Amino acid sequence: MAVQRTFSILKPDATRRNLTGAVNAVIEKAGLRIVAQKRIQMSKAQAETFYAVHSARPFFGELVEFMISAPVVVQVLEGENAIATYRDVMGATNPANAAEGTIRKLFAQSVGENTVHGSDAPETAAIEIAQFFAGNEIVG
Ligand code: PPS
Repeated sequence: MAVQRTFSILKPDATRRNLTGAVNAVIEKAGLRIVAQKRIQMSKAQAETFYAVHSARPFFGELVEFMISAPVVVQVLEGENAIATYRDVMGATNPANAAEGTIRKLFAQSVGENTVHGSDAPETAAIEIAQFFAGNEIVG
């Protein structure tokens, strides 16, 4: 598997609890390189666009409100098999089901406030990265 990039968000529950460094330490220990990173306040329109695929789901409004409730840290992570590697490191969506040592087992509070987002496929990674980063902001 070649070197790949994935898109990551450290969600409002992470920034609120001052956990961005602790989460980044787990990411780096897993062999992923943070090749772009910025702290932003997402707008409602940005969050609705980002999660548009979930717009019909009952929790959509709650998810959007949560994502704009505090700053987030958006990142591009690079490494061998980065998409699957990061999904493994994140752990299950619901922290109650997350494996020991994963970010969500260590830090997440609920299925909604679950600390991190990671892309699920190369196509979505490319779209998500382009939504938040210009090419010259990513330095591998
Ligand atoms: S996944 O990882 O896409 O398969 O997970 P999924 O269950 O489809 O969830 C998609 C995103 O919605 C968030 N989510 C929720 N938010 C608020 N309330 C509830 N009940 C809830 N259930 C799921 C979940 O954290 C996923 O967010 P991202 O940022 O994509 O990980």
